[in-house]
Amino acid sequence: MITLKNVILRRSAKKLLDGATVTINPGEKVGLVGRNGAGKSTLFALFNGSLHEDGGDFYVPKQWRMAQVAQDMPETEESATDFVVGGDTRLTELRTTLAAIEAAYAENPDDADIGMELAHAYTDLADAGEHDAVPRAQALILGLGFKSHELDGPVNSFSGGWRMRLQLARALMCPSDLLLLDEPTNHLDLDALVWLEAWLQKYAGTMIVISHDREFLDAVTDVTLHIANAQLTRYGGNYSKFEDMRALQMEQQQVAFSKQQDKIAHLQKFIDRFKAKASKAKQAQSRVKALERMERVAPLLAEADFTFEFKEPGNIPNPMLSIANASFGYEIEDEAPKTILRGVSRSVLAGQRIGILGANGQGKSTLVKTIAREMGALAGEVTEGKGLNIGYFAQQELDVLRPQDNPLEHMVRMARELGSAVKESTGEQALRGFLGSFNFSGDMVKQPVGTMSGGEKARLVLAMMVWQRPNLLLLDEPTNHLDLATREALAVALNEFEGTLMLVSHDRALLRSVCDEFWLVGRGVVADFDGDLDDYQRYLLDEAKRLREEAKIAVREAESAMAAAAAAATAAKPSAQERQQRSDQAKPIKREIAQIDERLAAAGVERAALEARLGEPIAPAELADAGKRLKALNEEIAKLEERWLALSDQLEALAA
Ligand SMILES: Nc1ncnc2c1ncn2[C@@H]1O[C@H](COP(=O)(O)OP(=O)(O)OP(=O)(O)O)[C@@H](O)[C@H]1O
Ligand SMILES: [Mg+2]
Repeated sequence: MITLKNVILRRSAKKLLDGATVTINPGEKVGLVGRNGAGKSTLFALFNGSLHEDGGDFYVPKQWRMAQVAQDMPETEESATDFVVGGDTRLTELRTTLAAIEAAYAENPDDADIGMELAHAYTDLADAGEHDAVPRAQALILGLGFKSHELDGPVNSFSGGWRMRLQLARALMCPSDLLLLDEPTNHLDLDALVWLEAWLQKYAGTMIVISHDREFLDAVTDVTLHIANAQLTRYGGNYSKFEDMRALQMEQQQVAFSKQQDKIAHLQKFIDRFKAKASKAKQAQSRVKALERMERVAPLLAEADFTFEFKEPGNIPNPMLSIANASFGYEIEDEAPKTILRGVSRSVLAGQRIGILGANGQGKSTLVKTIAREMGALAGEVTEGKGLNIGYFAQQELDVLRPQDNPLEHMVRMARELGSAVKESTGEQALRGFLGSFNFSGDMVKQPVGTMSGGEKARLVLAMMVWQRPNLLLLDEPTNHLDLATREALAVALNEFEGTLMLVSHDRALLRSVCDEFWLVGRGVVADFDGDLDDYQRYLLDEAKRLREEAKIAVREAESAMAAAAAAATAAKPSAQERQQRSDQAKPIKREIAQIDERLAAAGVERAALEARLGEPIAPAELADAGKRLKALNEEIAKLEERWLALSDQLEALAA
């Protein structure tokens, strides 16, 4: 059970929690919700012990094992599978322990204590699921949308979004009593999202998940914690129930508040009227007391609403841009370039509002990045209209912010770099005012960006983009991190934007409300998509089916190719003499294989018996012997298996 009693939590001058009292029971699936910057991630820092309460009591059982998704981008040459296996912290610890004991044992093979430790280390490792760690990790990786040929790819070779998925898989790999997930759906597409929902529904421990995605929360949570105005409130229900309950509560509070206000006014009138009269003074006095004693119903604090708008772009070229017979993709050193999209010929006209659709990995971001000049086209032409001014928002854009610098410094630098290209006032006061219109208050304009919440950073990137007065907006997943109200504000602003819009998003509500035509990126080309988003949903399902079919066909083709090869081999029959020769050569090999099989079977039986014995209470000396024996046996088995493989290769070569 996790309990908070009157907990106070601060971040510099900000009081994020003021007297929070809440209980979370074991096994509960909790959604933690609230506006950007409300303090959700900070509360996670309290849960995982990296931050301490500034007042009150916080308790989480010491023996609970915690798993959470690391927020940083992994940088390693390790393979995806190894990286995810590494998330099983218990296994990793046990492996390190074993290595240390093995080293000690190598130096002192006769030390009974070390022998015993070694034996224990082996059984602990087996108990921790050493034998199926790799398949467990790979099931997670594949579930999150990776292809099977990517399992051994180095982590560094994946794009940012995919690396964050590996980070998620790593957390799920860790056996835990408490699972903390901070916006786990940000980097997922629909397929992976559905898979994650199913996985979490089966998770047996206590889970707390932060998310701004209503449907996801409804699918995986049954309790909601809401942070607002430094208050933490628990609601028994998923997100939709929470919204209903909160609406009702607010309504009731509003009614109670107005009733009380009436009563206060009434008392006050009485006091004012009678305090002048000596005969009534006493009554007036008691009313004054009543008024003082009255427990006030708080007025409703409406959560600060936030709206913004894109400025009218100065001039709008038409066409904005035209692409002629171009290929898009990646240059790879010393290799042929990897073409993702080919034969792309399209123009983008002033005022078009294009939603870019396509399954994950089909090249949506490649298209957008090339248009944004982040990378060049492999072939063909991309011609820009005169005066084209692109506002590009990419997921990685958040990393482009400088953690040490504050929002004002970011704005000042940008203003200086763009100079007179943007006809905006660049004085500090003007920039402050501009930031204020994006809800960056007086204090926040000086707060280092590195300490800001995810949503606040995204809002800053958005603000910087708006300031540049673009006439073509290229938005690649702009709603990740944004809370529901800010998404709403973005949708409104995009709807009023007079320039051209190209939008990649998994947020179907946003696509529906701001785009009026769609491009489909898939199967190596860019095509018009004639249909609405429901058609698109069907397309995605069909596409998934097609890919599965293709995989099946590939398997079938490989099988028939193998069968053909085998048939060809039998067709080319060797002569009787050759056959005799080969069978003579094969005999000793077969004999050795049979011997190894026998020895392997016996060793396997002995190993099983030893492992069982090690699990029971036995005398230390015997335990040490058993440990040693087990190690020797494992080594022997490994050697035998290797020899067996080599022999069967020889045999196969002879048969061919
Ligand atoms: N070290 C710090 N110094 C000053 N302010 C901080 C610091 N760390 C966090 N904050 C502020 O505390 C507030 C809460 O941040 P937190 O990351 O917990 O928000 P959140 O609820 O997770 O928001 P989001 O939905 O955007 O992720 C934010 O306004 C943030 O700017
Ligand atoms: Mg957060």
